[in-house]
Amino acid sequence: MSPLFTSLLRRRRHHHHHRFLSTHSQPSIEYPLTHPIYTIWASNTSLGKTLVSAGLSTSFLSSSHRKFLYLKPLQTGFPNDSDSRFVYSKFSQFFTQNRPEFSVFASNHVLKSSVLAKDAVLSGGFEVEREKNVDLGLYKESRLIGTEKNRPFFASNCVLKSSVSAKDAVLRGGFEVERENNVNLGLFKESRLLGTEENRPLFASNCVLESSVLAKDAVLRGGVEVERDEIVNLGLYEESRLQGTENWEMRGFSKLVCKTMYGWKEALSPHLVAERENARVEDGELLGMLKGCLGIESESEKGEVLCVIETAGGVASPGPSGSLQCDLYRPFRFPAILVGDGRLGGISGTISAYESLKLRGYDVVAVVLEDHGLVNEGPLSSYLRRRVPVLVLPPVPTEVSNNLMEWFQEALSTFHSLEEIMQSAFLDRTSRLRNMPRKAHDIFWWPFTQHNLVPEENVTVIDSRCGENFAVHKVVNNNVDSITQQFDACASWWTQGPDATLQIELARDVGYATARYGHVMFPENVYEPALECAELLLEGVGKGWASRVYFSDNGSTAIEIALKMALRKFLFDHKIVSDDLVAVNAESRVDLKVLALRGSYHGDTLGAMEAQAPSPYTGFYQQPWYKGRGHFLDPPTVAMCDGVWKLSLPQEIETQNPSVEDLTFSLRENIFKESRHTSNLADIYQLHIRQALQLIMDSSGSTRTGALIIEPGKTFDMHHFLFVIQGAGGMEMVDPLFQRVLVKECRNKKIPVIFDEVFTGFWRLGAESATEFIRCKPDIACFAKLMTGGIVPLAVTLASEAVFEAFVGDSKLQALLHGHSYTAHAVGCTAAVKSIKWFKDSKTNHNLISEAMLLRELWDSDLVRQISLLPAVHRMVVLGTLCAVELRAEGSNAGYASLYARSLLQKLREDGIYMRPLGNVIYLMCGPCTSPESCSNLLNKVYRRLGEL
Ligand SMILES: Cc1ncc(COP(=O)(O)O)c(C=O)c1O
Repeated sequence: MSPLFTSLLRRRRHHHHHRFLSTHSQPSIEYPLTHPIYTIWASNTSLGKTLVSAGLSTSFLSSSHRKFLYLKPLQTGFPNDSDSRFVYSKFSQFFTQNRPEFSVFASNHVLKSSVLAKDAVLSGGFEVEREKNVDLGLYKESRLIGTEKNRPFFASNCVLKSSVSAKDAVLRGGFEVERENNVNLGLFKESRLLGTEENRPLFASNCVLESSVLAKDAVLRGGVEVERDEIVNLGLYEESRLQGTENWEMRGFSKLVCKTMYGWKEALSPHLVAERENARVEDGELLGMLKGCLGIESESEKGEVLCVIETAGGVASPGPSGSLQCDLYRPFRFPAILVGDGRLGGISGTISAYESLKLRGYDVVAVVLEDHGLVNEGPLSSYLRRRVPVLVLPPVPTEVSNNLMEWFQEALSTFHSLEEIMQSAFLDRTSRLRNMPRKAHDIFWWPFTQHNLVPEENVTVIDSRCGENFAVHKVVNNNVDSITQQFDACASWWTQGPDATLQIELARDVGYATARYGHVMFPENVYEPALECAELLLEGVGKGWASRVYFSDNGSTAIEIALKMALRKFLFDHKIVSDDLVAVNAESRVDLKVLALRGSYHGDTLGAMEAQAPSPYTGFYQQPWYKGRGHFLDPPTVAMCDGVWKLSLPQEIETQNPSVEDLTFSLRENIFKESRHTSNLADIYQLHIRQALQLIMDSSGSTRTGALIIEPGKTFDMHHFLFVIQGAGGMEMVDPLFQRVLVKECRNKKIPVIFDEVFTGFWRLGAESATEFIRCKPDIACFAKLMTGGIVPLAVTLASEAVFEAFVGDSKLQALLHGHSYTAHAVGCTAAVKSIKWFKDSKTNHNLISEAMLLRELWDSDLVRQISLLPAVHRMVVLGTLCAVELRAEGSNAGYASLYARSLLQKLREDGIYMRPLGNVIYLMCGPCTSPESCSNLLNKVYRRLGEL
C-alpha cells in the first residue's frame, strides 16, 4: 500500500467504526415458515425499495383476512424520512381512494431511536391538532419494588380526555413520580398525541428502567432527563381503521402492520449516523429484535401473512455496527427481492448487487426495476438466464405534489405478478423442504448408516449453514414448518472451522479461484494458489522438518501416499533396494508392515485400512481383501474422571509397577510437560516398546516394519468406536509421552515416522499442528479437513527432503507414480491459503494467544469439572476445539452400537445442538474461532441434560 494511501486511510479512519468482525453474541435464529418473509434489497439507495414495499401492500391487501407486515430495521433521516410511515400512509390513501368492501386496520410503529431522533419527534416533528376536546391518553406508570426481590408492583394512572389547555399544562409540566427507596426507577412517561388525520394518534413514550438512587433523585428534582448516549425506546405509534364499503363484521378485515425498528436523525449511512449520534446497535441485538418482529400473532393468521423486510441503502451498505447489511442479515437468509436500477449504468450496478447476494448464499427470487426507457431488463434477464424474473415498474412521477396514487394504480398488475412470484417461490421452497427426507431416504446411500435404522422423521433437512450453525427445516406441532438453528457440534465430520465472516470470505475467494483457474493441470506446472499454499504449509505445520508438499484431495489418499513414501524410504535406508530400484538380493523381497496403535483410524480406502487394526469395519463382510498389514500396539490413554486426569495403562505396562504419582494429573498441562520424559514411566514405556519391536522382528521372518503411523495427540477414534471400547474405554487421548518414546525408538531403528494429522491438524486440538503435544517431528505428515476451513476438499502429504530423495533418479520409474484428478486443485488451495492465514492471525481469530501460538481455553474448566463429576458421566476428554463425554454405561448400553445416547442427543437437538450419536459417547466440537461464550452456552445445555439423566 502506498504511504500516501495509508496516511489518507489513517486520517479518515476516525470517521467511522467499521469493524471487521461483529463479536457480539447472536440470538438463536428461528422463524416460522408459515408465511413468506422476504428481504427487499436494492443495488443502490433511492431506487424505490419503499415504493416496491408499498406496492406489495396494495397488491397483497386487496382482499380481506390478510396481514401485511412491513419491517424497516434501520431508518436514518428520521423522523423527516420514515419509510414505514410512507408505506402506511400511501397504502391508506390508496385504500381510501379505492375503498374495497372490507376494512383494514393499519398501524405504524417506531420502536427505538437515537436520542437526537427522539428529540426531533418530541419537538414538533409531528403535528398535534388543536381541537377543543382531545384524546389525551396521558399515562403514567411506575414500578414499585416491594421487599421481596423480583416482585415489582406496577401502578399506573391514565387520564383519557382533557381540554386542550389542560393537555398543554400536562405537556408543559412533566410528571411527578412517587419516591421510592429502590434503585429501580420505573419512570415511564407516555403520551398519545393526536395527529392531523382522524383516528391517527401518535404515541410517544419514554421509559427509563433502572438508575442509581442519586440519578433518580436528579430525575425527580429536575424533570425527566434521558441519557444522551444510546438508543432509547421511542414507542411512537399511530393507527387507523380504514373503513371499507361494507361493515367489517360482514366482510371481515385485513391488517397492515408497519414497523421501524431503529431510527436515527441524520440522513446518512447507518454506520456513520450511529457513531455521530452516539447510538450504536450491535448486530446480535438487531437480529434479536428482528426475530421478535417476525412472528404471527395468532393461529388464525396462518397462511394469510406476507412479511417484507426493507433494508437500508444498497446491498452492501453498512449497518449500524459497520457489518455490511448483506452479511448482517445472512443468519436468517431470507429470500430476496432485488430492486434494480433502470437508469444509465444500472445494469452493471444491478448485476453487482445480485452477485453480492448470491455469493452470500441468498436466493434472489425476482428483480424489479423502474422503467427509465433504457430497457435494462433485457440484458438483465439474459444475464440471469431468464431463471430469475425481471419485472418493470412504470416511470415514477417526479413532481413533489404528485401523491403517486395513479402510479400505484398503474403498477398494480406488476405488483400482483411480483406477489404471485413471491408466493409461489415460498410454496415451492416449503414443499421441497418437506419432501426432502422422503426423497433422500429413497435415493441416497448414506455412509456409515444402516438405512433400516433411520426413520424418515429422523432425517435432518439442512437448509443452509452460517458459521458454526445449521439452519434446519422442521415440521413441528400442528404441522407447522419452521427454520431453526442448530450448532454443528460434530463440525460436519470434523472438517468445519469457519465462523460466519470467514465463510463469506472463503465463498468469495473460492469463487474468484474458480473464475480465474477453474481446475488446472498440476504436474510440471505452477500456479499461485498451489505455490502459496505449499509455502504456507512449509512455514507452518511443516516448519523445521518438511521440504516437500504432495497434494491430493482427501485424508485417506493422503495416508496412502504417505505409506508409499515411507515404505520406499525404508527400502532405501535398509538397503533392500538399490538406487535404481533393483532388489539387492533375492531375500530382499520382504513383506512390509506398519507399526500402528490399536484404535487408530486412517481412512476407509483399502490401503489406509491395511494400516488399521482389525475391527468390525475390516471384517470379512465389510472388506474381504483386508489383511491388516500392521503390528498394533495397545496404547496407554488418559482422560478426566471425577475432575482428575488419569492414565489407563495396558496390562503389560501396568505389570511393570509404574510410580503412582506418574498416573494422575491435577492439571491437563501436566500431561504435556517435558519433565515427564525423564520419569520412571518414560523408562517403562521405552522398555515396553523395545520389547514389542524385538518380538515383532523375531516373530516375523521375512516381514519388516517399514513405517510407524500415529495420530499425534490423538484424542479418540470416532469411526471405530466399538473396537476401541473393547480395549480400554469409549474415548481416548493417547498418552503423548508414549507417542514420543515410540517415535524415538522407531527413529533409532530407521523406521520412517508418519503423523496422521488429518483430524488433529490446523487447530483442532488447540495448536496448529499436534506435534506441539508430543514435541517431536515426523518424516511424513498428512493434513486435510480443517486445512481449507473445511469448505472444499483438499489434502496434503508433507515430506522431508530425505524422503523426497528416495524418489529422485534418472528414471521415471523411480518417481512417485501416483496422482488424483484433483491434485492441487486451485480452488482448494485458495481456500487453504485463506484459512491457514485466518486461523493463525489474532486479528481474525480472537481465540489465538499469539505469543504461545495456541488457542485459549474454549471450554469453561469449572463447568467441565462439574460435568465430569455428574453420576451419569464416566470420563471426559477436553482439548482445543473438542469436548468429549463418555457416559457411564454397562452391557449393551456401552459401545458404538448402543443407542444409549440417542434420546439424550434428541433432546440436545431440540436445544439447538446438532450432535451425532457414538454409542455412549457424546462430543462437542467447535471451530478455532468459536467464542468461549458460545462454547459455554453449549456446555451449559449439555450439563443440564446430563443432570436429568
Ligand atoms: C485421523 C484420520 N485420518 C484419516 C482420515 C480419512 O480422511 P478422509 O475421510 O478425508 O478420507 C480421517 C477421517 O476422519 C481421520 O480422522
